[in-house]
Amino acid sequence: MSQHDHPSVTVIGLGAMGSRIAEVLLRGGHPTTVWNRTPGRAEPLVAQGAVRAGSVAEAVAASPLVLVCVLDYAAAREIVEPVAGDLAGRTLVHFTTGTPRQAREMAEWAAGHGIEYVDSGMMAIPPMIGEEGARFLYSGSKDAFERYRPGLELLGTAEFFGEDAGLASLYDLALLSAMYGMFAGFFHGAALVGSAGLSAGEFAEQAAAWATAMTGGFAHNAPAIDARDYTTTGEQTIAFNKAALDTIVRASRDEGVAVDLVAPLQELLARQLADGHGAASFARIFEGIRSGR
Ligand SMILES: NC(=O)c1ccc[n+]([C@@H]2O[C@H](COP(=O)([O-])OP(=O)(O)OC[C@H]3O[C@@H](n4cnc5c(N)ncnc54)[C@H](OP(=O)(O)O)[C@@H]3O)[C@@H](O)[C@H]2O)c1
Repeated sequence: MSQHDHPSVTVIGLGAMGSRIAEVLLRGGHPTTVWNRTPGRAEPLVAQGAVRAGSVAEAVAASPLVLVCVLDYAAAREIVEPVAGDLAGRTLVHFTTGTPRQAREMAEWAAGHGIEYVDSGMMAIPPMIGEEGARFLYSGSKDAFERYRPGLELLGTAEFFGEDAGLASLYDLALLSAMYGMFAGFFHGAALVGSAGLSAGEFAEQAAAWATAMTGGFAHNAPAIDARDYTTTGEQTIAFNKAALDTIVRASRDEGVAVDLVAPLQELLARQLADGHGAASFARIFEGIRSGR
C-alpha cells in the first residue's frame, strides 16, 4: 500500500461523527492522526493505530489532508484560525454542519490563507459511515476533491456539487427539510390516531407504506416548478388541496390535536386561493414558499 494511494490524513474533532470517520479511514489504510479538545476521546482510535497529536498545529503538520468535524462553525473557526499558517498549502475538508453562508465565508477565509477548501454535508448517522447507504455531499475545490476522492469514498458515496463551497450545505439542508416535513407529518398523524387510542406503532406501518407510495409525487411535481408553469394536466389543484387541509385542521381541532404543523400549509394554500390560483396545480405552492406570497 503506497503513501500515494493512501495519503496521511488528520481528523480534528472526535465526537460521534469524527470518531467514526477516523476509524473508517484508519481501517481503509490511511495513516491517521487525530486531535480532540477532550484528549481522552482519542483512546479507542489510538488503540486501533491512530497517532494522537499533542496540539492542533501538530495535527495539521502531520498530513496534507485535514478533516474537521466538530459541533458547529464557531468551534471549527476557533480551532482552525490560529493555525492558518500551518494549514497553508494543505487541503481542509470541513464536515461540520452549517449554513451555506458559513461555508462560503470559511472558503473565503481559507482562500485568503492559501488553503484548499472543500465543504461537506453528511447524509448519514455515525453507524452508517463507511457502510452502504451513507452519502457525503461536497462542494468547493474540485481539484482537492478529485485528488482525495478515493479516501472520501470510503466514508460513503461521494457527490460533488460545484465550486461554490455553499452548495453541499444548501443541498444537505434542503434534504433535511424534506425529512423534517415527512417526520412532522408522521407525528401529526400519530397524534390524530392517538386521540382514539390507536397505537403509533400500527400507524408507523401504514404511514411508511403511504409515504413510500407518495414519493413519486416529487418527480411528478418537479417539471411544473422548473418550468414555472402550473397548468394542471389532471393532477390535483390548489383548491382541492386547500379543502383537504381545511378538513385535516378541522378534524384535528375536533379531536383536541394541536394544528401547529398543519395550519401553516393551510395558510399557504389559502393565500394561493385568495390570489386566484385555485385552478393551478398543487405545485404552485412553491411560488408562495419562494416569495412568501
Ligand atoms: N450525529 C449525527 O447523526 C450527525 C449527522 C449528520 C451531521 N452531523 C453534524 O456533525 C457535526 C458533529 O456531530 P457529532 O454528532 O459528532 O457531535 P458530538 O458527538 O456532539 O461531538 C462534537 C465534537 O465537537 C467538539 N467541540 C465542540 N465544541 C468545541 C469547541 N468549542 N472547541 C473544540 N471542539 C469542540 C467536541 O469536543 P469534546 O469531545 O472536547 O467535547 C466533539 O469532538 C455537527 O455539526 C452535527 O450537526 C451529525
